[in-house]
Amino acid sequence: MAKFTLREEQALKVEELLKKMTVAEKVGQLHQLSPSIVGGFDVSFEELIEMLTEGRITNEEFGQMMEGAERDFHEEEIREGRIGSFLLDDPEKANELQRIAVEESRLGIPLLIGFDVIHGFQTVFPIPLGEACTWNQELFEASASIAAKEASSHNIRWTFAPMVDIARDARWGRISESPGEDPYLAGVYSRAKVRGFQGKEPGGQEHIAACLKHFAAYGAVESGQDYNTVSMAHSMLHNGYLPPVKAAVEEGAMTVMAAFNDYNGVPCTVNPYLLRKVLKKDYGFEGFVVSDATAIKECVAHGIAADLADASKKAIEAGMDMDMNSHAYHNHLETQVEDKTVSIETLNEAVRRVLSVKMALGLFERPYVSEEEMKRYEELPKEHKEAALETAKRSIVLLKNEQVLPLRKDQKIALVGELADMPMEVLGAWSLGGREKDCVSIYQGLKDAGASVTYQTCCGPESDFCKEALMEAAEDADVIVAVVGETSAMSGEAASRSDLTLPGQQQELLKEALATGKPVVAVLMNGRPLALAWEQEHVPAILECWQLGIEMGHAVADVLFGAYNPSGKLSCTFPAVTGQCPRYYNHPSTGRPAGKSKFTSRYLDAPLAPLYPFGYGLSYTEYRYEGFQLKETETAVLAQVTVRNEGSYGGEETVQLYVRDVTGSLVRPVKELKGFQKVRLSPGEAKKVLLSVEKKDLGFYNDEMEYLLEDGEFIFYVGGNSRDCMEQEISLKF
Ligand code: NOJ
Repeated sequence: MAKFTLREEQALKVEELLKKMTVAEKVGQLHQLSPSIVGGFDVSFEELIEMLTEGRITNEEFGQMMEGAERDFHEEEIREGRIGSFLLDDPEKANELQRIAVEESRLGIPLLIGFDVIHGFQTVFPIPLGEACTWNQELFEASASIAAKEASSHNIRWTFAPMVDIARDARWGRISESPGEDPYLAGVYSRAKVRGFQGKEPGGQEHIAACLKHFAAYGAVESGQDYNTVSMAHSMLHNGYLPPVKAAVEEGAMTVMAAFNDYNGVPCTVNPYLLRKVLKKDYGFEGFVVSDATAIKECVAHGIAADLADASKKAIEAGMDMDMNSHAYHNHLETQVEDKTVSIETLNEAVRRVLSVKMALGLFERPYVSEEEMKRYEELPKEHKEAALETAKRSIVLLKNEQVLPLRKDQKIALVGELADMPMEVLGAWSLGGREKDCVSIYQGLKDAGASVTYQTCCGPESDFCKEALMEAAEDADVIVAVVGETSAMSGEAASRSDLTLPGQQQELLKEALATGKPVVAVLMNGRPLALAWEQEHVPAILECWQLGIEMGHAVADVLFGAYNPSGKLSCTFPAVTGQCPRYYNHPSTGRPAGKSKFTSRYLDAPLAPLYPFGYGLSYTEYRYEGFQLKETETAVLAQVTVRNEGSYGGEETVQLYVRDVTGSLVRPVKELKGFQKVRLSPGEAKKVLLSVEKKDLGFYNDEMEYLLEDGEFIFYVGGNSRDCMEQEISLKF
């Protein structure tokens, strides 16, 4: 697809509308609100949030209270044309508010209803970090397209996804929402997501506007602490963090959300370098930028704005088009334009962008959904569930297997671990549309597969270990399957962790399970890379299953029993110990790479190497790589390698191509992914795989944002992960 731009007749309509609008109505288009909670509890809403944060009430209790909350939907302000967008998942209410906007406001401009549809809506797919392990753009696109169908049936026409923050620090809870640490893989992911959400032509009934977030470099928050500061050279930003953003803009993404963090001292919300120069000027982005929730207001706490009025002026001038929930534009922008503190051209530009997206989405023609549409996905269609299962199976990564897996159906399984029987936990963070009735837990999945299984809770991420329960479960068992990991609330927003080992007493559970002498399989359910050095040393089989979405139980059963041969490859490095974070494979070269000598780049008390490298993932079969050759053409370098399936299971391998630019005018990464290809191989089969890298893609940005292609030596690597590769050197002139 091409960059988002309006057709001529649509652009004319936007200009006609702009001419008719008062300043107040223009400001209204830039004001986004959520329904305000105005009562229904015995305590104030702020106190309620405090109670939740301090753990005095559980997430479930909070959810129940919210269902009964009284809300203000700001109907009067909509009627006056003072609201442009609403965050909402309630199709009836959406129709009602839309009717006020369209039929009762002076100019009849429809609202844009947005919602966080992050990894599926009602059909919840794996968390993005897990889905990225499929390395499969067809699946990336299909899950977004299903999410768009379901969300649009609720009159949600805008999602705050894809999140494409390059995340290299596993302590950061939001790594779960991201496609991982690699800019190339994230670029493939972000393009596919935009295609899936928006369709070929924006404006299709079953499509919604994508919102790239969070712009920019949110994944690099210092020490993995959420909302923290980010400082990095422009070259690192452009080479390491922005490729998926640029890719998605080129693919037609209609909106972008600015990140909470500051970038080099200026919060992204009011950062003209990012919003005006990079995004709007250099990338030619014609959609609109929305702030993150209350982020304009937070510029006061950042200490970059004196008060809300100052924040309003700084934001609009920096190129921030829509204010999410700060009330900064709503309270101040009209006066600021009238007294010429902010120019009318600046206001017009932002309004033009918002109206353009509304126009392109077809909201003026179709502001409502019908009763029939609203009910369409009350029961999920078979194809949606099948797609969820397919993606879930392919997101599973086999980390270790000492001839324990696959299991046989006649083996008696002792299933232990609280997470195995918590259906809603399969959904993971940011899965607001998920419903318990659609969720298949691991316990359920094993039963559905006809397994001979007994279940005991024994221990959870937040509950104590009970040895008697384990002994009871294990007594007659042939194998122990221990489901361990994190709850969904332990990753996602505001969920950074400083210790990445298994939370609570779950390691105790594994130790005692091993002490029974029976084979043990650790099935991990988590939202981030964990530090699993102990588990790798002791547990014979480890399966990384993330939070896989509604079909989790069936997907895990398929892999455990070998109905599906695992093919997932890690989208992020797993550190050996937390202190290694941030640990990522495409690190800039140092002058003293780790070696035997003390005076090299390493730790005294921990290995330097990660536990599982980026791109890693085992299978029930073995693949051998041979005959790696390079060939240069005028415009590309072609890499050819033969991959042979040497085991007894058919499977799918992801052949990965990495490049190192040996000498450059800036320090270059030790290795960078430049391509990959999936190959399906029957037992004993060998296939030639050809990967091509365009020469123009072998350059990099300097700090002035110039793209440089520098002659010299390049090392090409191919392999099944970023560590274990064959290599060939080539000298190139551009
Ligand atoms: C805050 C989060 O940072 C962002 O990702 C999300 O889309 C908005 N809130 C809206 O819910």
